[in-house]
Amino acid sequence: AQTSPKEQYRPAYHFTAPQNWINDPNGLVYLEGEYHIFYQHNPFGNVWGHMSWGHAVSKDLLHWQHLPVALEEYKNADDSTQTMIFSGGAVVDSANTSGFFEKGKKDGMVAIYTAHKHANLKGLAQYQNLAYSSDKGRSWKHYDKNPVLDIGLTDFRDPFVFWYAPGKKWIMSVVKALEYTVQFYESPNLKDWKLLSEFGRQGDVSKIWECSSLLQVPVQGQNQKKWMLMLSSGHRQKDYLAMQYFVGDFDGKNFIPQKQDEVLYIDEGKDFYAGIPFGNLQSKKPVMIGWINDWEYANKIPTEKFKGAMSVPRELSLKKTDAGYRLIQAPIELSFIDEKGIDLTNIKVKENLPLKYKGESYELKAEIEIGAAKTFGIKLLKSEGEESVLIYDAAQKRLSFDRTKSGNISFSDRFPSVESVVVKPQNGKITLQLLVDKSIVEIFANGGEQVMTDVVFPTKHEGGIELFSEGGSVVFKKLIIRTVVKKK
Ligand code: FRU
Repeated sequence: AQTSPKEQYRPAYHFTAPQNWINDPNGLVYLEGEYHIFYQHNPFGNVWGHMSWGHAVSKDLLHWQHLPVALEEYKNADDSTQTMIFSGGAVVDSANTSGFFEKGKKDGMVAIYTAHKHANLKGLAQYQNLAYSSDKGRSWKHYDKNPVLDIGLTDFRDPFVFWYAPGKKWIMSVVKALEYTVQFYESPNLKDWKLLSEFGRQGDVSKIWECSSLLQVPVQGQNQKKWMLMLSSGHRQKDYLAMQYFVGDFDGKNFIPQKQDEVLYIDEGKDFYAGIPFGNLQSKKPVMIGWINDWEYANKIPTEKFKGAMSVPRELSLKKTDAGYRLIQAPIELSFIDEKGIDLTNIKVKENLPLKYKGESYELKAEIEIGAAKTFGIKLLKSEGEESVLIYDAAQKRLSFDRTKSGNISFSDRFPSVESVVVKPQNGKITLQLLVDKSIVEIFANGGEQVMTDVVFPTKHEGGIELFSEGGSVVFKKLIIRTVVKKK
């Protein structure tokens, strides 16, 4: 299908709303063969506002069926204020602990969201509310005794809830945003919540804390899991946004982090935020989805009809290193990949090597042997005068992504930027996996040990790809590109 010029930036295989604004993923939950995504959504416009929960379901985490808005902003009966439905989680209450469902019903869903009470966009209060659904998320009722958790703060939000089997209870993590603090609560029934402990004021505190989640993650090569606390906060570069994580233990009451000498960022790009995992997939490999955008310019990005996208779902695991446990992220396999593409081996690159292949939505995998080259890399989404450049500095062992010439960069002076991260060669090689999709570049280096996600807005859409090397040659041992075509 032809995309209209207005939708030139709509990705082919990343999740977007059929129309209008999205931000955080919400209520990621699995039920009887269906993955549910809810998301922060403005049903009425292409900027943030009227926050509601959009909804879609999928059987494979790649093809999504859009459903009507699940929870809408509502007017409060008692006064002139309104309530927006801010971020939160969803659970399957299979034992009917909440009592919301008929006896014996095993597939009742409960959403736990932040009610953001406001008057003309001015925030007045935030507290945690419940809504429930007896028809697999297709229709919802708000609990008539809301709120279930109110501590009188105006920045108290983003509950993430999961069933903690050893203690036979629900656990919630939720943030006191301005205090850089995560609180943990427990409940037998999702309605009555008791404070267990707090964790905070460490790691990155350059920006407020939002969207925390607590989950168990398997350690690679070991029959072991560790607990991980993820949350959204500041970026390594001043005043941008990113996510950080802490690895440790959870005893049903307290989160006890491992000793940590540095801030651990989940994604070093500018556009990965508010990620949460599926709350009830912890027995399998945990899967996280994040919002691709940055509040520093989120409302201004030059996309029409839609604004904001979700990352390709990422499987999470941990690797034990001398410095402690480190997060490994792997995008789920893109099963709808088209066989069109290229497979090249042992390409020696000196200076510039444009590829015959051109495209704007593809997956690229490369295994690169660092020879004598001082710097080398790949130019993406290239045309005369425009390029998004991935560049590796062999001496610094640093991988950078430069979007300063990527196309339309003028909509915000916060936008043009270069991000970088240390990527250590393994046996003289580095590997790259790139998910390029119109206006999105997700970069996974060395098997997902380092990740960078950025948006870009090329204007000419020629989709050129060029390999390059400076100060010596480099060998692309393998280079595989697959055009990604979404099945209808
Ligand atoms: C994070 C966030 C959340 C909040 C939501 C509002 O991006 O600020 O803390 O619940 O967005 O849309």
